[in-house]
Amino acid sequence: MAALTLPQLGLGTYRMNGAVCRAAVESALALGYRHIDTGQMYGNEAEVGDGLAASGLDRNTYFLTGKVCHALATPAEARTALEETLRRLRTDRLDLCLLHWPRAGLNIPGILEMLTRARQDGLTRQIGVANFPLRLLRMAVEEIGAPIDCDQVEYHVLLDQTPLLTYLRAHAMTLIAHVPLAQGRLADHPDLARIAARHGATPAQVALKWLLDQDSVAAIPKAARAVSQRENLQSLDLVLDDDDRAAIAALPKNQRFVNPPFAPVWD
Ligand SMILES: NC(=O)c1ccc[n+]([C@@H]2O[C@H](COP(=O)([O-])OP(=O)(O)OC[C@H]3O[C@@H](n4cnc5c(N)ncnc54)[C@H](OP(=O)(O)O)[C@@H]3O)[C@@H](O)[C@H]2O)c1
Repeated sequence: MAALTLPQLGLGTYRMNGAVCRAAVESALALGYRHIDTGQMYGNEAEVGDGLAASGLDRNTYFLTGKVCHALATPAEARTALEETLRRLRTDRLDLCLLHWPRAGLNIPGILEMLTRARQDGLTRQIGVANFPLRLLRMAVEEIGAPIDCDQVEYHVLLDQTPLLTYLRAHAMTLIAHVPLAQGRLADHPDLARIAARHGATPAQVALKWLLDQDSVAAIPKAARAVSQRENLQSLDLVLDDDDRAAIAALPKNQRFVNPPFAPVWD
């Protein structure tokens, strides 16, 4: 396994479609984002591809994450779908390709083997999983032996992921935090607003910097509006202190917002 080298702050694109998606990707790249996260399930790969192309950036200058959909029945179907993903994105490779969900009944070893082969064939530089709780991540790493480099999971100031993060760090893997703003809820969270006011910052910036200050953690907030994209990027400049971290540590840490019917039992 090679440690992931990805920009710590990327752009999420779930629930962004059509012209809005294309414009958001283009705007984010113009502002300096160099990691874009998409997935087959989002139905926006063509528009993400349009935004990437419109940016005029050299393909080697940005990091592109895709995800194979857990609804696909077989590894062969997943391989074909990955090839279609590349065509829609108008690229010959992803930088990171994830298995989107460990759905019950899915041939997880078969899909991970397919991803490993796809990596060897140059369709993606690195592979990983998403929404794998610790026991399934251990299975993927220790039993299946898949050369995965990350787990993309829900992580924010209202949800603890300490055991998973400890394991990921011990294995030189990255935690990519999805819904880092708790689907936008943290943008007006009163406790974060109090911290933000002391720094002339915003609650969203506090929430993001808390994540980005942690070793082996990256985050992919979604923001369609350029003003929010800029604000989120500027979170990197914020300096949180011990009082801030203590106040955030005191928040409840058991609030999970992404829990679809096909989700695994969480550890
Ligand atoms: N692997 C998975 O299963 C999985 C699951 C969920 C999400 N994800 C990934 O994670 C990404 C992020 O998750 P998410 O989009 O669900 O939630 P999120 O990033 O936690 O929150 C997005 C919401 O916050 C708003 N927002 C962003 N920046 C803001 C700011 N500075 N101030 C105020 N509001 C702000 C956005 O508004 P506007 O868009 O209107 O600007 C949007 O409504 C997704 O897009 C997707 O790429 C992955």
